[in-house]
Amino acid sequence: MINNNNFGEDFKWGVTISAFQNEGAAQIDEKGLSIWDTFTATKTNVKNGDEIGESCGFYTKYEDDIQLTKELGFDSFRFSISWTRLLPQGYGEINHKGIEFYNKVINCCLKNGLNPWVTIYHWDLPQKLEDNGGWTNRQIIDWFSEYVKLCVKSFGDRVTNWIVMNEPMTFVGLGYFMGYHAPQRIGITSFLKAAHHAVLAMAEGGRMIRNLYPHANIGIGLSCSYVKPINQLAKNKKAALRMEALLNRFFIEPLLGLGYPSDVMPSLQLIKSYFKKGDEHLIAFDFDFIGLQYYFRVVAKYSLSRPILFADEVSPLERKSNLNVMNLDVYPKGIYKVLKQFHERYPQVKKILISESGVCYPDFQIANHIHDVRRKKYHQNILKNIYKAKEENVPVEGYFVWTLVDNFEWKEGFEPRFGIVYTNYTTQERIIKNSGLWFKKFLRKA
Ligand code: NOJ
Repeated sequence: MINNNNFGEDFKWGVTISAFQNEGAAQIDEKGLSIWDTFTATKTNVKNGDEIGESCGFYTKYEDDIQLTKELGFDSFRFSISWTRLLPQGYGEINHKGIEFYNKVINCCLKNGLNPWVTIYHWDLPQKLEDNGGWTNRQIIDWFSEYVKLCVKSFGDRVTNWIVMNEPMTFVGLGYFMGYHAPQRIGITSFLKAAHHAVLAMAEGGRMIRNLYPHANIGIGLSCSYVKPINQLAKNKKAALRMEALLNRFFIEPLLGLGYPSDVMPSLQLIKSYFKKGDEHLIAFDFDFIGLQYYFRVVAKYSLSRPILFADEVSPLERKSNLNVMNLDVYPKGIYKVLKQFHERYPQVKKILISESGVCYPDFQIANHIHDVRRKKYHQNILKNIYKAKEENVPVEGYFVWTLVDNFEWKEGFEPRFGIVYTNYTTQERIIKNSGLWFKKFLRKA
């Protein structure tokens, strides 16, 4: 088995959490409501009727969780800021109690020798902004910039590493096209508008940070999947190319100045109708790193059911693949393929991080031990594949585990557990799982 030294001294080892999923305290200290507070207030929106409540209580337990991260041997702690803790209405009046909270989190990381990696936007849009059109309203770019500026001015003296946005394809696709996630909007128009505004906002956010702190390390976190066609029929192969473009190329290419991937989806030209003068230039930004977030493989087939895409996923249930609790097709080898393809396509990207990867399998508790052999194996296999890509000169410079402690998995509620540390949601006790103990051994300095 490889050991951590193989990855090199500068390789970053981190864990990732997010504000909405971990903090709890949704209505404490003058925090405003986000679209996810609204969504989860309706019981039927969440699997098993789960109510988020205090989730895993990061708002009060942040010191314990940060110390735990250190104890496990990681050097980096990635968390996100809740927009409505800082700006309860989304813009305008600042809530100083929110700033104080993240000051404490950042200072605690530094005190424990951990590098803070701050995600500025991890899906919890202020409800007030959604009431005014949310990501479909072009004004979002100004609202977002004001928020980014406040984050950077408040924390930039101590935070170097910034992830401007997390998985835009997930929140735009599931939230503004399929109506599955908050804010439950449906349709191609809201999807295209939200997507274009998200790209512009990422670029604008990057410029804002760079202007205020020229030495900051600025990136984004993009979801990616290994995509293959169900068979070799030409129509299915082409469908897989379109699916792959949607999942892996849609956001990175405009940001690199290459435009949206309409080569394989000609009707994507439609997005041009939401362009304003100058967008061709405003859309690009030279990020210091690109974070890739890998979880599952997608098998695609031709389908008439989705406009522009004309492709659909073959349900992993039908294929009886290696399923996780969310019925996603777990395929660690895919990360190697995705990394190789990304590097071949975009050699101009000089630094890649795996800013998230993880898996939800059932855990087995025996006495006070949590046995999660399959999760441990998953991370080992993922790391083997990252190492293989690195050996072949793909510039991967870090691995961030999703996630530290079990937390609230959005619409899926509490059932999927991704943590390398177990959360007892009644007592808020944490128990390090076997996978966490494995990381502790693996990361031990020689
Ligand atoms: C990616 C998202 O960033 C995170 O919020 C989510 O919990 C994980 N995927 C697992 O689904």
